[in-house]
Amino acid sequence: MPDQKQFVVTPWKVEGAVDYEKLVKDFGTQLIDDRLRARITKKAGFSNPLLSRRVFYSHRDLGWLLDMYDKGEEFFLYTGRGPSGGTHLGHIIPYTFNKYLQDAYDAELWFQVTDDEKYLVKELEQEEISEFARQNIADFIACGFDPKKTHVLLDSQCIKTLYPIALKIAKRTTFSTAKAVFGFTNETNVGLPFFTALQAAPCFLPSVLHKRNIPCLIPAAIDQDPYWRIARDVAPKLGFHKPAAIHCKFISGLGKGGKMSSSEPETTIFMDDSPTVIKQKVMRSFTGGAPTEEQQRLEGGDPSICPVYSYYTYLFAKSDAELQKIFDECEEGELMCGPDKTRLAGRVAAFVSDFQKKKQKALKRVDDFLFREEDFT
Ligand code: TYM
Repeated sequence: MPDQKQFVVTPWKVEGAVDYEKLVKDFGTQLIDDRLRARITKKAGFSNPLLSRRVFYSHRDLGWLLDMYDKGEEFFLYTGRGPSGGTHLGHIIPYTFNKYLQDAYDAELWFQVTDDEKYLVKELEQEEISEFARQNIADFIACGFDPKKTHVLLDSQCIKTLYPIALKIAKRTTFSTAKAVFGFTNETNVGLPFFTALQAAPCFLPSVLHKRNIPCLIPAAIDQDPYWRIARDVAPKLGFHKPAAIHCKFISGLGKGGKMSSSEPETTIFMDDSPTVIKQKVMRSFTGGAPTEEQQRLEGGDPSICPVYSYYTYLFAKSDAELQKIFDECEEGELMCGPDKTRLAGRVAAFVSDFQKKKQKALKRVDDFLFREEDFT
């Protein structure tokens, strides 16, 4: 595994301890400043911890997009999911933030489900991917989106709509650019370089369908940013606005470092895990605690490297004051890992079981969200 200096972030691989500030420099994005945070918070009417605690921390052209909005130009949101397994807590982070932005700006939202991408990169059959896709769409819907303003693009079914736009993007993207952006090698199958144009296509689809140039904002984790570099490169050549983006960090797995990922199920909280399984996973978690209880009382723990503490930061602290208290008590050796994990396990289990109820209803509504071209003609 690479060390801190050698971390890797691509849409298909995240390895090593990610240095998020360095990533901003490497990718050429910008940190979200207090002014931008305040503008979004004011419009929404309340502060979202994912923004105030800097989980969403980086952007491209967010100021420009908000200026356009203030001048009367509405924007649409674009996000997505690659159906290669069950939905986990990590996926829920961008989904809930999309919901916050949809409500704040009354924005149309496009959700792309890349069943083609996952067939190209994973050892999975198309039938398995189709079933994951149906489940993943229901998980997304369960986050509370408005069906009148939300359209799900399942690539294999919407290819007729996406293909002409993808073709225009592909024609203007050289293999050498795609190679530099995504790190393709001679071993990469030939499907993937073209697929990059397919993930860029929804950045422009609403403009094509509504027959006017509409600004786009993409909330997602920063691993997806390489696609937006391709889309932004070709946008002016096609007469569209460059898509803006707002990036979040990764919620880590419950092991030592590394992003939460379906390929490591033991340290991942899936949204269909039972309370018992959640408790087992959380209680086995790596922590920033000292080797013995006695040492921890004397020297304190290190919340900065602790997944348990980070889960409070991302989703599970009830307030900033509570988060600060957990941090201080951990550092001062007043809070032990056992009770801290027990409290977190209870909160995660309650969150997941509430989600599961919403998902059962969402499963019956998948068709209401699927994009139909005839609705736009
Ligand atoms: P996928 O399925 O890998 O991930 C779906 C969304 O979840 C984010 N994500 C995470 N966020 C926080 N912590 C984590 N541990 C974590 N793991 C994943 C991803 O960044 C993403 O936002 N190719 C895409 C599908 C896609 C897409 C898009 C995503 C198509 N169009 C537009 C975002 C925006 C994919 O496989 O995502």
